[in-house]
Amino acid sequence: MHGLANAIEKYNGIIFTNSIVDDVQRDGDDFKVFSNNHEIKAKYVVIASHYPFLNFPGFYFSKMYQSTSYAIAIETSKTIPDGMYINDEEPTLSFRTAKYGDKRILIIGGGNHKTGFSPDSDENYGYDFLERQAKKYYPDCNVLYKWNTRDCITLDKVPYIGEFSHFMPNMFVATGFNKWGMTSSNVAANIISDSILGVENEYADVFNSMRMEPVKNRGEMKNMLGQVFQSFVTNRIKIPDEDLSVIKNDNGGIIKLDGTTIGVYKDKEGNVCAVDPTCTHLGCLLTWNNVDKTWDCPCHGSRFNYDGKNLYDPAFKDLDKYEIY
Ligand code: FES
Repeated sequence: MHGLANAIEKYNGIIFTNSIVDDVQRDGDDFKVFSNNHEIKAKYVVIASHYPFLNFPGFYFSKMYQSTSYAIAIETSKTIPDGMYINDEEPTLSFRTAKYGDKRILIIGGGNHKTGFSPDSDENYGYDFLERQAKKYYPDCNVLYKWNTRDCITLDKVPYIGEFSHFMPNMFVATGFNKWGMTSSNVAANIISDSILGVENEYADVFNSMRMEPVKNRGEMKNMLGQVFQSFVTNRIKIPDEDLSVIKNDNGGIIKLDGTTIGVYKDKEGNVCAVDPTCTHLGCLLTWNNVDKTWDCPCHGSRFNYDGKNLYDPAFKDLDKYEIY
């Protein structure tokens, strides 16, 4: 990143940090980009914000979802493999080593699931799954760190790289890297810079962001629409009228109080934090994730802290809060 930033500045480019863009509009043949109450004029725009924050006219939310993957770092007295390994079956498991002070530790990854769907059973998901696998191969191991991340997954498993929409010429997108971000971002940089410079790129067609193949994947499309419908309609109908006592300490959930749908989190001491559990992206009903103490969206994977603060895109606004006692 330092190399890239230095190169941009060397050629008189200017980098603005802490400048979240919240809208882009056409302005004749150019664009107006809005950020921090400022307007920036641009001839070309590249949307490389992980999940595109503009919903229309790109409609990327209808052909992409997010997946949460987990990793743990362990130390062990046993010899660990030198290299990187990944299996070719479900559930996925990967192994790689890392330098940690003067020794090497093992990083085990996998246990992924669609973001917003907290798995009923932890058999093949999350940290518990990874820790069980670690103990199986390295019974004396000690878990040093654990973390998780999200990736955008396209319906045909090929990234979307190229023009954002027929209605927005000179605006480009790079997203849906399907967990291959280091590689795909380099492919995106080549294709998009060639497009802006008017140079033909032999791979542009493969990644064409407006191709129809993803939406022709009937199985994936049906799954996605079914889950969106469930979140918009079925889950809302199923919320029973309850009182606060149904939510246990150190846990969260959605209840109806006097007809209002409320997302409630209780900390270990029973202090209550209440939010409107409606996603600020496109309005799906959020689900409670008790591993990270977050509200997650099953539709396109936005995430919010237990107190409603937006953590991850494509939503970028916080949830409304409620005062309840
Ligand atoms: S992320 Fe799209 S509705 Fe929540």
